[in-house]
Amino acid sequence: MPHYDSILCGAFAKGRRRGAAELRGDDQTGSTKTEAAFSVEPDWQNIGIGDALFERIIAIARKWGISSIELMCLRENRRMRHLAAKHNARLCIDQGVAKAVLHPNWSSPSSQAAEVVGEVRGFRLFI
Ligand SMILES: CC(C)(COP(=O)(O)OP(=O)(O)OC[C@H]1O[C@@H](n2cnc3c(N)ncnc32)[C@H](O)[C@@H]1OP(=O)(O)O)[C@@H](O)C(=O)NCCC(=O)NCCS
Repeated sequence: MPHYDSILCGAFAKGRRRGAAELRGDDQTGSTKTEAAFSVEPDWQNIGIGDALFERIIAIARKWGISSIELMCLRENRRMRHLAAKHNARLCIDQGVAKAVLHPNWSSPSSQAAEVVGEVRGFRLFI
C-alpha cells in the first residue's frame, strides 16, 4: 500500500455513487495484509456493480503488492459468498460468519489495464 491505510473505490451511475468498496491495511505495521468491505445500494444490487468493484479491488491490490485480502460477511450472505468464490477466495465458515481470503498475484499488464479502465458495464468506477 502507499502511505495511507485505506483505499476507497466508488461506482457511480446517473450522477450518484451507487456502490463502494474499501481496501484497508495497517500503515503502522507495514503489513501487506488487508481487509475489504463492499456495499451497493439496494436498488442497484444484482446488476454487476459488486463484481466490478471486486475486480477493481483485486487490480489495486496487485498493483500495490498486497499479499492477502480478507473479507467477512454473514453466513447467509450468498451473494457476497458467491462473488468471493468467483474470484478464487478460500472460504471458511465459523458459526454465523463466513470469512473469505484471497491472495492477489503480483501486478501484471492485464491487472494494470483493469485499473485504468474507467468505465465498466455502464457505470463508472473511481478511486
Ligand atoms: C454483497 C453486495 C456487495 C454484492 O453486490 P452486487 O452489486 O449486488 O453484486 P453483483 O450483481 O455484482 O453480483 C452478484 C452475484 O451473485 C449472484 N447471486 C445473486 N443472488 C445469489 C444467491 N442468492 N446465491 C448465490 N449467488 C447469488 C449473482 O448471480 C451474481 O453472480 P455473477 O456475477 O456470477 O453473475 C451487495 O449485494 C450488498 O451491498 N449487499 C449488502 C452489504 C453486504 O452484504 N456487504 C458485504 C459485506 S463485505
